[in-house]
Amino acid sequence: MSSDDVKDGVGSGVGGDDRMVGAEPVPGSAKSDPILVADGVRRSFGGLTAVDVEHLEVQRGTITALIGPNGAGKSTLFNLLTGFDRVDRGRWTFDGTAINGRSGHRVARAGMVRTFQLTKALTRMTVLDNMLLGAQGQFGERMAGAFLRSVWKGQERENTRRAMELLERFKLVDKRDDMAGSLSGGQRKLLEMARSLMTDPSMIMLDEPMAGVNPALVQSLLGHITSLRDEGKTVLFVEHDMDVIMGISDWIVVLAQGRVIAEGRPSDIRSNQEVIDAYLGAQEETAVAGGSDDD
Ligand SMILES: Nc1ncnc2c1ncn2[C@@H]1O[C@H](COP(=O)(O)OP(=O)(O)OP(=O)(O)O)[C@@H](O)[C@H]1O
Ligand SMILES: [Mg+2]
Repeated sequence: MSSDDVKDGVGSGVGGDDRMVGAEPVPGSAKSDPILVADGVRRSFGGLTAVDVEHLEVQRGTITALIGPNGAGKSTLFNLLTGFDRVDRGRWTFDGTAINGRSGHRVARAGMVRTFQLTKALTRMTVLDNMLLGAQGQFGERMAGAFLRSVWKGQERENTRRAMELLERFKLVDKRDDMAGSLSGGQRKLLEMARSLMTDPSMIMLDEPMAGVNPALVQSLLGHITSLRDEGKTVLFVEHDMDVIMGISDWIVVLAQGRVIAEGRPSDIRSNQEVIDAYLGAQEETAVAGGSDDD
């Protein structure tokens, strides 16, 4: 059943592209119904400009991939937009509301959540408790203890019901009483995705959700990502696997040295010489050198 979902979902970005109707494949391109609009977002570390994005719009209800070489600024941009780091300058709106300057917690409350490149499951807490923490929106490890079993008293039953529903959906329900630390890397990625959905966000940002995950779980993650989009949520994800990116994305944004150097549909990006020079060429060499291609 779920493998059919995966087959239906994967590749849908390549065929009917009406989700991106009217969007020009150029950096900073305007979208017909953007959920996220960022302007002049800059962040430097010492002398290094990690992010310098002039203009970026993410179309509502799409799967948009954010790609680019290591160190391009992808995670930093996620951190900035979701309130986990502070910009030097820049502003952005989510669903028409300016949210720059808000903490991660408040950004999550507004409906935009993210997962981390290195999963942040709290390993010495059960899977279910991790989920319940997710109901509070994004949180830091320091805040976890304070929240647990205190703040949500009145909502606990409703939160538990939602957590169980999501654990069911992500096939983690049998693990609900296990410590998160006992899960495999791939299961932790699933848990993190499930947890981020506790607040029923309208946009979910995934930083390398497939990294280090075995091929079976990759298929399952892909199925979840396309289902989220098909339910009307907006997904922005960072990924390095070109087959995954080209197969699942409605739109691709390419970052290099902190700047958006290209945007477009998978077919536009694949044939974009600047992208090939900055990223895809090197990717191909890595794939050849790595040599393991199990397709
Ligand atoms: N807290 C920090 N302090 C100093 N430099 C940082 C910090 N965070 C990121 N950087 C630098 O900013 C640049 C962008 O890093 P970032 O992690 O955003 O890249 P990325 O595109 O996510 O790369 P990867 O694909 O390897 O995850 C890099 O040069 C990185 O070393
Ligand atoms: Mg990164």
